[in-house]
Amino acid sequence: MKPKMRLGIIGGGLMGREAASAFGRWFVLENMPVQAELVAVCDLQEKLLDWFQQVPTVKLLTKDYKALLASPDVDVVYVAVPHDLHEAIYLDVLNAGKDLLAEKPFGIDLRAARSIRDAAAKSGRFVRCSSEFPFLPGVQRVLQAVRSGKFGKLLEIRSGFHHSSDLDPTKPINWKRQTKHCGDVGVMGDLGMHTVHVPFRLGWKPLRVYAQLQKIYTQRPDGKGGMAACDTWDNAMLHTEVRVDGAEVPMRLEQKRLAPGEMNTWYIEVLGTDGGVKFSTKEPKTLWTFERAKEQYWQRTDLGHQMAFPTITGGIFEAGFPDCFLQMWAAYAAERAGVLGDRFGCVTPDEAVASHELFAAALESHVKKTVVPLA
Ligand SMILES: NC(=O)c1ccc[n+]([C@@H]2O[C@H](COP(=O)([O-])OP(=O)(O)OC[C@H]3O[C@@H](n4cnc5c(N)ncnc54)[C@H](O)[C@@H]3O)[C@@H](O)[C@H]2O)c1
Repeated sequence: MKPKMRLGIIGGGLMGREAASAFGRWFVLENMPVQAELVAVCDLQEKLLDWFQQVPTVKLLTKDYKALLASPDVDVVYVAVPHDLHEAIYLDVLNAGKDLLAEKPFGIDLRAARSIRDAAAKSGRFVRCSSEFPFLPGVQRVLQAVRSGKFGKLLEIRSGFHHSSDLDPTKPINWKRQTKHCGDVGVMGDLGMHTVHVPFRLGWKPLRVYAQLQKIYTQRPDGKGGMAACDTWDNAMLHTEVRVDGAEVPMRLEQKRLAPGEMNTWYIEVLGTDGGVKFSTKEPKTLWTFERAKEQYWQRTDLGHQMAFPTITGGIFEAGFPDCFLQMWAAYAAERAGVLGDRFGCVTPDEAVASHELFAAALESHVKKTVVPLA
């Protein structure tokens, strides 16, 4: 029998249920050193607790997260709640002696992120933050291509995450569109961790930032016949520079809730004088690679299901969101068990804090209409 990683979920909404789906099909992973088992769930909503009744391994369903944390059956806690609750709940998880996979943005602001990071270091618990797109086969190939060092002199880096459902002004308000719950960083807190994970892990940390932030709709239906203030940033374009091989290279990070036509598009592009690479979830099977030979050409490669953590799924099949989310959990479990090896790992607490340092500088840049240096 493999050792078990017994999980508790706090926040059984969109992401809490996605996590349950990942644990429920853990058996598709081959050669995993640990077996994941969901044993406890906490949410405030009865209907969500009812939904989790269908998971046979769940022994505890509660509306009190402290009851979940008191359970000796829980080893690791996944917390997926609104951002204003991150700090208090994450600290309680650590004080209860549990390991943590924290949802982004790892606290509502920079102060909260630093307090969580410091508490995590002091506690000695294994703590990582969520960001799943790098575990798609196309992104793993982007990482390999960049690390091959065949791009010559880097010209530019673009990393982004675009949504469009907020273009509909009749879409009702929710907590992600309210600063008191989502944070002053708005869309950066919502989508920003996804755009920085790969660049940060490649060592591309912004030296300075010039930010363009936009609020387009300032009110939304409150779902009760009235209107409510919608006071978060909708779109954030962060123009930064990073140092690569002694040279400064422009890197643009785009987070948008108002991007016409984009359902949930995550993308990255890295261009150099000799080579380049592009991947977008809009074309999930396609890797574009550039080579400057006698002629210049972009080559299209059809990708299959080649995952960092092999599964029983046939290599010719396509990968999607539930697959990369499962792979992220496999990376968390493997790193926690000390067997990640040279595979890509989840966002570290230091990387999460660095993302908040960038977003705080972006807010300052936008207010002062100036470039803000990062230490
Ligand atoms: N990794 C990703 O791709 C991704 C995608 C969406 C959201 N997120 C993140 O996940 C987190 C949750 O987002 P979501 O979309 O799942 O939100 P959601 O609104 O769908 O779910 C949040 C849940 O938390 C519950 N909750 C609130 N207060 C609670 C408390 N005190 N105790 C227990 N449960 C409580 C709510 O009842 C709700 O069911 C956020 O940090 C968000 O940024 C990550």
